[in-house]
Order: sequence, then structure tokens, then C-alpha cells
Amino acid sequence: MDILPVDKTDLHSLSEFLKRNLVYENITEELAKEKIFDDPDFDPEKALKAIINSEIVGFMQGVVRKFKSRRTGFIKLFATDEKCRRQGIASALLKIIEEKLWSENIEEIRILDSSPNYLQPGLDPRYTEAYVFITRRGYEKFDEDVNMEVDLEGQDFSTDREEEDLLGQGIEIKRASPEDRQLVFSFIDENFATSLKEVEVSFKNRPISTHIGLKNGRVIAFATYDANNLNTGWFGPMGTLKELRGMGVGRVLLKRCLRDIKLQGRKTSTIAWVGPIAFYGDSVGANVKRVFWRFKKTRPNRVNPWS
Ligand SMILES: CC(C)(COP(=O)(O)OP(=O)(O)OC[C@H]1O[C@@H](n2cnc3c(N)ncnc32)[C@H](O)[C@@H]1OP(=O)(O)O)[C@@H](O)C(=O)NCCC(=O)NCCS
Repeated sequence: MDILPVDKTDLHSLSEFLKRNLVYENITEELAKEKIFDDPDFDPEKALKAIINSEIVGFMQGVVRKFKSRRTGFIKLFATDEKCRRQGIASALLKIIEEKLWSENIEEIRILDSSPNYLQPGLDPRYTEAYVFITRRGYEKFDEDVNMEVDLEGQDFSTDREEEDLLGQGIEIKRASPEDRQLVFSFIDENFATSLKEVEVSFKNRPISTHIGLKNGRVIAFATYDANNLNTGWFGPMGTLKELRGMGVGRVLLKRCLRDIKLQGRKTSTIAWVGPIAFYGDSVGANVKRVFWRFKKTRPNRVNPWS
């Protein structure tokens, strides 16, 4: 078996490999490219394929994300071909990638939830072999979240009346425009900093896939779609300033995004990494579709030279 960095010429075989082995996902070549090669922190030294007889039989990708002054490592994707499992392939890949990650001065490694570019916000526990694999290798569950799904058919997501009411209270709702860039980015950075990178991605789309609420010229709320897992109907993130919650601003912004997604010809939308289940259920009839468990491993203690 050879272990080598992946390169763009592997895209087709890699996406076919992931399609076969990640059985709960809808992997396309476009999605595989976005996850692997278009990741802003893609590093071929940490995106490795295992090859036997010129065929990809294993793959694992690690990335390091920097948030403010904190650096975190992630194993963002991994799989071994079904016919080659339990032969130590994923263990060999993990050993190399973990060593690289620890050497980059990080304090913890997490599994899959590698925002802003992530396939899923944690491990779907139905991947039982993966659950056993990572827990036996020292990863511990620390949180869980869900993806919800909205049926877009049969709902028109019109918001005219609600928007009129909000306007009466001095709140304007609109799609963000290129001129709003600075205003929106500083609002997100100040209040929802972990969402900033995804909102930045949405400003590259045409039309911009972020809607905002404004009061007295200040941004007070936002909702974004098509900022991760592009062209899959992916909704999120969103946020309203604490003191202005409960007025219906978030609901209107959510509906505007879902209307756009429906206009793309989609029948469903995924509301990712939730969060306030009741809000999405009440606002647009969303239901929990998938559950994810989040795992982390903290840096093993360095040997104390004085002991
Ligand atoms: C998880 C996965 C990558 C492991 O790959 P692998 O190459 O078989 O892993 P290794 O051979 O290095 O290690 C397997 C270890 O996982 C655990 N394991 C895996 N399957 C198991 C099972 N059915 N029962 C018990 N333990 C199991 C064991 O600890 C095993 O070690 P052992 O064989 O020494 O007992 C592989 O099962 C897989 O591709 N699953 C589907 C894809 C997936 O779930 N990806 C994660 C989401 S992105």
C-alpha cells in the first residue's frame, strides 16, 4: 500500500470512492471538489490517499482552522473502501495526519465539524464503524446537533405583510447588496464571529445569498444560504441581535432565503447545524432529519522533563 497526497487529477476517482463509501451522503463531483480542493485551508500534506494496485482504497483529509488567536485541527473526511476495511488503512492515515496536525501547534482535533467548509456538522452515528474507530483512538463526544429539512413544495414563503409590519416598527428587510459589505461584515464579526467566513462566501454569489434586517441604518439580523455545500439547498447560518429577538425578523429572513432556494428549483432545503429546533419547526414546518455527534481529542500531555 502507498500513501500519497491527493491532487486535482484524483477528483473523479475520489468522488466515486466517497460516493460508494459515505452511504448516508449525496456526494457529487462538485461537492467533493468543494470539500477537498476548494477548502480554504487545503493542504495536500494532510489530504492523503491510500493506494493498492493503482486504486484508491482509503482517503483522509485534515485541516487546520484559525479562529481569532485559536488554531484547531479537524479530520474533515475519511473513508476506507468496504472490501479493505479492518486492515489498518484508516489507522495509518490518521497517524500521519494527527502527527502533522499536532506539529502545527493546535490544542485539539475535532471530527468533521470543520466550519466554514464542512460536509456535516459532526459524525452521523449510523456510521457505526467510524464511531468505534474514532472513540478507540481517543476521541470523546462533547456535543450533538441536528440538520433539519424543510419541504419547499406547498409553501410560498411570501413575507410582504410581515415586512410591512416590521417597517412600521422601523425595521427594513432586504437582500444584502455589494455596498453593504463592510456594514454586514463588521456586524457579523462583532456579534456572530463564527459565521463571518460563511457570510463572506455568500457575498461571492450572484445574487448575494444573505438577507439582512436594518434599523436606523444599523444591521440587526442576517440569514445566509449557499455558503457551504453549494447547490444542495443548504441554509445557514443566521442570527438576530439578542435584544431584537421575538419580533419576527428571523422568521422573515429565513423565509426569504427559502424562497430563493425554492426558486432554484429545489424541493427541499437543509437547515444545518441546529440549534433552535422549535423556531424552525414553528416558522417553516422544518423537521429533524439527521443527528450528528461532535468529537474532540485534546493534545496529549507533553512528557514532563522534570518528572
Ligand atoms: C471508519 C473507517 C474509515 C475505518 O477504516 P478502516 O481502514 O477499516 O480502519 P482500520 O482498519 O485502521 O481500523 C479499524 C478499527 O475501527 C474499529 N472498527 C471498525 N469497524 C468495526 C466493527 N465493525 N466492529 C468493531 N470495531 C470496528 C476497530 O477499532 C478497528 O480496529 P481493529 O480492526 O484493530 O479492531 C471505515 O469503516 C469506513 O470507511 N466507514 C465508512 C465511512 C465512514 O464512516 N466515514 C466517516 C464519516 S466521513
